[in-house]
Amino acid sequence: MHVHHIAIAVHDLDAALAFYRDALGMIEGDRREVPAEGVEVAFLPMGESEIELLKPLDPGNSIGRFLEKRGEGIHHICVLVEDIEATIEQLKAGGAQMAGEVREHANGTRYAFVHPKSAHGVLIELYQHADAQ
Ligand code: CO
Repeated sequence: MHVHHIAIAVHDLDAALAFYRDALGMIEGDRREVPAEGVEVAFLPMGESEIELLKPLDPGNSIGRFLEKRGEGIHHICVLVEDIEATIEQLKAGGAQMAGEVREHANGTRYAFVHPKSAHGVLIELYQHADAQ
């Protein structure tokens, strides 16, 4: 189990890259729109993990509302797991509440979110790569 990515909600990707890439010295990876999630993302890989800067495509979507309510900051932490169903079972057995169902990216990666209420205020994303099992 390791951190796959840390997602940070920002108002402006270029302004955020001026810090993370130019000032802090991280390497910029891909940058693309992910309409299914309603965001434009800039990826900053580091080792086995990466930082994802998320900019909402629409101020009314969930990232847009997050920014409006809480300002810029960590939106979620994503943990890579080997078996997402087993992890969810274990979480539910421990009384945790999920936020929505398991969904799938085009590349076959399956993902789900644990409600921040159950994770001490942090939205936790679970990832299982297509080739994990
Ligand atoms: Co994520």
